[in-house]
Amino acid sequence: MVLVSGTGSNLQAVIDAVQAGELPNVDIAAVGADKHDTYGVQRSAEAGIETFVVNFKDYEDRKDWNHALTEKCLSYAPDYVVSSGFMRIVGEEFINAFDGTYINTHPALLPSFPGAHGVRDALAYGVKVTGCTVHIADAGVDTGPILRQEAVAIDDADTEDTLHERIKVVERRLLIATLADLAKSK
Ligand code: GAR
Repeated sequence: MVLVSGTGSNLQAVIDAVQAGELPNVDIAAVGADKHDTYGVQRSAEAGIETFVVNFKDYEDRKDWNHALTEKCLSYAPDYVVSSGFMRIVGEEFINAFDGTYINTHPALLPSFPGAHGVRDALAYGVKVTGCTVHIADAGVDTGPILRQEAVAIDDADTEDTLHERIKVVERRLLIATLADLAKSK
C-alpha cells in the first residue's frame, strides 16, 4: 500500500507499471493520505484503487492520528507500506507495526538534505551533484537503511522545479526497481 500527501506523480508511475504488467507480483492494496483533496488520492481512485484519508487536522493529538493511521494501514495487512511523497512524520506505533517494511523515497542523496525541502536545500547549499534515495524508513526524518540511490547532476540554470522534475524521473525508476526486488523476495 502507498501513502501520499500531494500530487502522487511517482505513485502514478508505479500504477502505470503495475497496469502495464511490469510489476507482476505487486498489487497496490490501497492508497492513503493525511489530508483531503490530494491529487494522489484522486488519481488512485481513478485507477480503481481503494483510497482513504486519515486527516491529520481531525486529531488534537499527533499520537491519536498516528494510532488511527497505524490501525487503518494494518487493516490491509500490506507486505510493504510505501511513503511516496507522504510528508508527515509517523510515530513509534506506526514504525513498530511496519518495522523494516516502511519504504520511503527522498529527492536527495541521504544522509544529505533530509526533510521536506531536500531539493531546495541542495540548491541553496550549492552542491553540484544531488540525487534520490529509496530506503527503509525508521523513526527519524528520512533515515534508515538505504536500498537504492542514484546521483543527478545540478545545472547552473536549475530552479527547484526543474531539478526536482529531473530527480523524479530517476526516483520513479528506482522506486519501481525497488518494488520489483521486494516483491520477488516475498
Ligand atoms: C518526491 O520527490 C519525494 O521524494 C518527496 O516528495 C516528492 C513527491 O512527489 N518526498 C520527500 O521529500 C520526503 N522527505 P509526487 O507527489 O509528485 O510523487
